Amino acid sequence: MKDSPFIYGTTVSTHAFTNREAEAAKLRSNLLNGINTIIISPRRWGKSSLVEKVILEINKKEKKTKTVIIDLFTVGSEEEFLEMFAREIIKASSPKWQEWLVSGKEFFNKLIPKLSIGLDPMNDFSLSFDWKELKKNSEEVLNLPETIGKKKGIKFIICLDEFQNISSFNGYADLEKKLRSYWQRQKLVTYCLYGSKRHMMTEIFNNAGKPFYRFGDIMLLPKIETKKWIAFITKGFQDTGKSIDEKTAERIAGLMKNHSWYVQQLAHYTWNLTHKKASVIEINNALTELIYANTPLYQNEVENISITQLNFLKAVVKGETQFTSAAVMNTYALGTPRNVSKNKALLINTDLIHEVDGIFQFVDPAFELWFRKQFLNQSYLME
Ligand SMILES: Nc1ncnc2c1ncn2[C@@H]1O[C@H](COP(=O)(O)OP(=O)(O)OP(=O)(O)O)[C@@H](O)[C@H]1O
Ligand SMILES: [Mg+2]
Repeated sequence: MKDSPFIYGTTVSTHAFTNREAEAAKLRSNLLNGINTIIISPRRWGKSSLVEKVILEINKKEKKTKTVIIDLFTVGSEEEFLEMFAREIIKASSPKWQEWLVSGKEFFNKLIPKLSIGLDPMNDFSLSFDWKELKKNSEEVLNLPETIGKKKGIKFIICLDEFQNISSFNGYADLEKKLRSYWQRQKLVTYCLYGSKRHMMTEIFNNAGKPFYRFGDIMLLPKIETKKWIAFITKGFQDTGKSIDEKTAERIAGLMKNHSWYVQQLAHYTWNLTHKKASVIEINNALTELIYANTPLYQNEVENISITQLNFLKAVVKGETQFTSAAVMNTYALGTPRNVSKNKALLINTDLIHEVDGIFQFVDPAFELWFRKQFLNQSYLME
C-alpha cells in the first residue's frame, strides 16, 4: 500500500506542503532584506512549516547567508538558551567541524567556551561556558552572529521557534531588554521569531511598554484558502491511485474550517478508508474517527474550565454576540457582568475562542463539533 499523502503531527515543508506562495514570498523577501519578522497565528495553522520551507529555499540559493532554526520548546533558562544560541550559530557558520573549534576560540574575548566533538561531529558538537562568566558577558554570545558575519563576510538569518518560552526564564525582564538592544543594532543578522502561544507572543511584541514593541514586521499568518485545499486534496488522492471529486474535497476543508492540521488529519482518515473513490460516507466515518481520537483532549479542555466559562462557550456556539445583555446572561447562566468579561478574556487568552470580524468563534473547529454534540446534541455528520 502507498503511504498517505496527508501528513499531520510534524512540520511539512516539502511534499505535503500546499504552496503558501504569497506568505512564503513575503517572508523570504523580509528575511533576505534584513527585516526582522514575527509570525503569529493560532495553533497549528502552519508557522513552523512555513519557516522551514522558506529557509530550505534560502539555503539552496543564498550561499553567503547562513541560516539557523532553533526550537526553544525545551529550553528552560537563560544560560541554556545562550549556550544553544552560540552552538547553533557556530555550527551554521561553516560546513566544516574543524572550523567550529577555531570559531569557538577566535570569536570570544572574555568568555572561554568549553568545546567538545564526538564521533559524529555533525550531531555531537557541544559547547558550554562557566555560568557566572556567561552571565557577566552574555553580550558576547548575543553579538556572536554579527561578529562572525563581519569577519567572514557572511550574513545570518536566525529563526527562533516557540520564542514566547523565553518569558518563563528567571530574570526574563532583563534578558528581554538585552536581547532587544543587541539584536536591533546588528546589521548582518535578521531574526524571525514565532511561537504557538498567540496571547504571549502578542503580549511580547504588541505591547507599547515592552522592549520588543516594533522590533519587526508582524505577519499574521492566514489560513490556507479553500481552492488550494481542494487542489491539494484531489492531487493527493490521484497520486496514490484513488480519487475524490472537488465537491467532496471541499467538504473536508469546510468541515475543518480550513484549519491546516485538521484538514490534513481528516483528509488522511478519509484517504485511509477509501478504496477507490471517496464519498460522504467515508468522510463521515473519518470524521467520527477523528473526533474519537481527539476526545480525551477535548474532555480535558472542558474539565479545566469553570461552569460559567462552559456556559459562555455554549453562548458562543449559539452565535450570541451581546454577552452582557440581561437576556443572554440569564439564558446561559453566565453569572455577573464581571464574570462575563473575565471569562471572555480567559477564553481568549487560552486560545479557545477568538474574534473574527466582530463575532466570537471557537479556534479549534473539531473541538467545536465535539462540543456541539456533547452539550447541544447536534450531530456533526453530513447528510
Ligand atoms: N502549507 C501547508 N500545507 C499543508 N499542510 C500544512 C501546511 N502548513 C501546516 N500544515 C499542516 O498543519 C500541521 C501543523 O503545522 P505546523 O506545525 O507548521 O504549525 P504551527 O503553526 O507551527 O503549530 P504550533 O502552533 O503548534 O507550533 C502540519 O503538521 C500539517 O499537517
Ligand atoms: Mg510550530
